[in-house]
Amino acid sequence: MNKIIEIKNLYVAYDDNLVLENINLDIYEKDFIAILGPNGGGKSTLLKALLGLLQIKTGSIKIYGKRPNESRNLFGYVPQENKFDWQFPISVIDVILSGRLKFKKNFNFFYSKNDFEIAEELLKKFGLLDWKNKHISELSGGQKKRVFICRALATESDILLLDEPTAELDAHIENCIYDFLKELNSKKTIILVTHDIGIISGYVSKVCCLNKKLFYHHSGKITGEMLQNAYHCPVDLIAHGNLPHRVLGDH
Ligand SMILES: Nc1ncnc2c1ncn2[C@@H]1O[C@H](COP(=O)(O)OP(=O)(O)O)[C@@H](O)[C@H]1O
Ligand SMILES: [Mg+2]
Repeated sequence: MNKIIEIKNLYVAYDDNLVLENINLDIYEKDFIAILGPNGGGKSTLLKALLGLLQIKTGSIKIYGKRPNESRNLFGYVPQENKFDWQFPISVIDVILSGRLKFKKNFNFFYSKNDFEIAEELLKKFGLLDWKNKHISELSGGQKKRVFICRALATESDILLLDEPTAELDAHIENCIYDFLKELNSKKTIILVTHDIGIISGYVSKVCCLNKKLFYHHSGKITGEMLQNAYHCPVDLIAHGNLPHRVLGDH
């Protein structure tokens, strides 16, 4: 398997607040990695560092051997924050089409028939076709989240970064999205931040826990020790003892 991302001795701080401490992680082509961890553990910060949106204090991130800010076009990204200005005048289809802009060259900002077909296919897949000409502000929280997942997929990137993509979604939509990600994983590398420790076990190939430091088992399995280190509370409280053995190693 090809190593595509290499994170080495990474430290990230916001002013004096050290948020990521000595992170080391290799990511291989077609990995499906879940990053778990408590709120404030640094999960979103790690994704932003991969996207080159943050200053690294020390250490390095290499994506196909290049720096993050040279590699942004390789990622499809679903941000966690709902800090988007929902009053911004943009329709659902235009949000998704904006994922196609990276393919435009020489100030040619016209979308092609192919761009529209890709956007509409995604809208259909995510049950949003009837909403395509609505203003983004007219959608519910879960629908908005789906629009941003569609936007990330419209970039047709080889690497997807998803920051709690199912946080506001109904259980059955959540399962559909995970099924779809699993299907995409045959072609794409997926890095998923989530709290759905139970659900993800059937989908992902590797799990790590992040709470300033990264807790990772070389087998890719989640272990009681990792959870305890990351969450600082007894494993039973987190895992409820019903995780499939494939993901939750002996503890
Ligand atoms: N833009 C920012 N400026 C200052 N501190 C931040 C900023 N973003 C996040 N933090 C802090 O960094 C820590 C990690 O945050 P975050 O990466 O969002 O964690 P998680 O996604 O795991 O909940 C938190 O203590 C948070 O308050
Ligand atoms: Mg976060």
